[in-house]
Amino acid sequence: MSQHAHQQCINPDCQATFDIGRVLVACPDCGALLDILYDWDRLPVPAWSTFEQRWSTTGVNDDGRLDFSGVWRFRELLPFYRTADDIVTIGEGRTQLQDAHQVAAEIGLKRGQLHLQYEGLNPSGSFKDNGMAAAFTHARMVGATKVACASTGNTSAALALFAGLSGLSAIVFIGSGKIAYGKLSQALDYGATTIQIQGDFDACLRRVQQIAADVPDLGIYLMNSVNPFRLEGQKAIMYRVLQALEWQVPDWIVVPGGNLGNSSAFGKAFTELHQLGLIDRIPRLAIIQATGANPLYELHTEQGVRWNDGHWDSAKRDALYDRNIPANTVASAIEIGRPVNLPKALRALHVMDGIVRQVDDPTILEHKALVGRYGFGCEPASAASVAGTRLLIEQGVIDRDARVVCVLTGHQLKDPDATVKYHTGIDMKAAQDHAPVSDPAGRIANQPVRVDDDLASIVAALGGDPALVS
Ligand code: F0G
Repeated sequence: MSQHAHQQCINPDCQATFDIGRVLVACPDCGALLDILYDWDRLPVPAWSTFEQRWSTTGVNDDGRLDFSGVWRFRELLPFYRTADDIVTIGEGRTQLQDAHQVAAEIGLKRGQLHLQYEGLNPSGSFKDNGMAAAFTHARMVGATKVACASTGNTSAALALFAGLSGLSAIVFIGSGKIAYGKLSQALDYGATTIQIQGDFDACLRRVQQIAADVPDLGIYLMNSVNPFRLEGQKAIMYRVLQALEWQVPDWIVVPGGNLGNSSAFGKAFTELHQLGLIDRIPRLAIIQATGANPLYELHTEQGVRWNDGHWDSAKRDALYDRNIPANTVASAIEIGRPVNLPKALRALHVMDGIVRQVDDPTILEHKALVGRYGFGCEPASAASVAGTRLLIEQGVIDRDARVVCVLTGHQLKDPDATVKYHTGIDMKAAQDHAPVSDPAGRIANQPVRVDDDLASIVAALGGDPALVS
């Protein structure tokens, strides 16, 4: 195992350390989350130019397989593996930072200042592939044969894809009726054993954690973002953002918040880059939740819970969770009431001078349509980042001149039902149950135009003069 990496409990009163080769998803001493930490003094600090060089030469040198990956291209920044042979990659993370000037104009940002980090372009269609590349690498290092996760859909799709490619058996837990069909179809097609339980994501996660911890005979390696190796891979999303901006740090990173793995990973990425002297300032973080699934908003923004050097007020969290508020949002990817990475997200908010906001479902869908209209396209949860940016501009928190990066976490085709329902008012899921429901279409809906199969009618529908049809 890497001699310069170890696992460490994030609880400042514990800080127990563990070998990198152990399979842990919580501190065995106190139950807190774990970090992967590196002995940076004994490791080579890379220069940005190394990463640039790899981007331009992918596939033509000896390390081509690794350089082709948008995660492992930055391998010196997640050096927990022993040798290159450990590394699992499928060419994840070849994603782009897009200059979205039309969307910028719509939401009130200056031209050239809004960038969309288009993670839907990953092989399984969401940012999850970044984390899976790292966690599957660790799984291979420890000889795991069976991997599992609970999911609102994207984690299960990514896990199933990576398991299929690396010959591991995959088990995914999903809430009954809680998953967009695009994602369900992926888990099934990639051959994962798919367990649907009556319950939501939080219930699924509880069960899969129990099975991994309490039934060792099953030999399950847990792939949810309580696995600290997942977050190592997701740090790379921010490395790619920096590379696209020629290593200039933006003013804001805006990201949807569900289980809070991404925000936690981004906080760790920027902390380490700063420590290494690769950046001289840290951008601000805005985490956007749906109003129907807003525990971090409630705790951080409403109740003022702060990281407080690791002594955060967990009684407030427990009181909130005791209220058993069901999570409910059209953004099914972030329909999560009890995010497991809450402490790490509080830490990220601290180091990135961050804030949390909430946006409601109609606003999320409207911004999804906006992102789609200008040629990018994303699933509902992803659009929360753009909706949240507009809100923060309106609130005067984000300046019109600020340079903002919104992470588009998942592809448009993940949840076609939500898109069709927004534009037509037709609920495809209900229609499949033989009970079509017709809601009014969305405010900026692009309704299909129904026309008879008749040339004059078609010309009229297109704004032409039907009288001119001979
Ligand atoms: N956006 C998308 C498209 C997601 O799939 C998720 C999480 C998030 C945002 C939230 O990210 O958890 O890091 O705060 N999806 C998980 C899943 C929970 O099971 O696929 P987070």
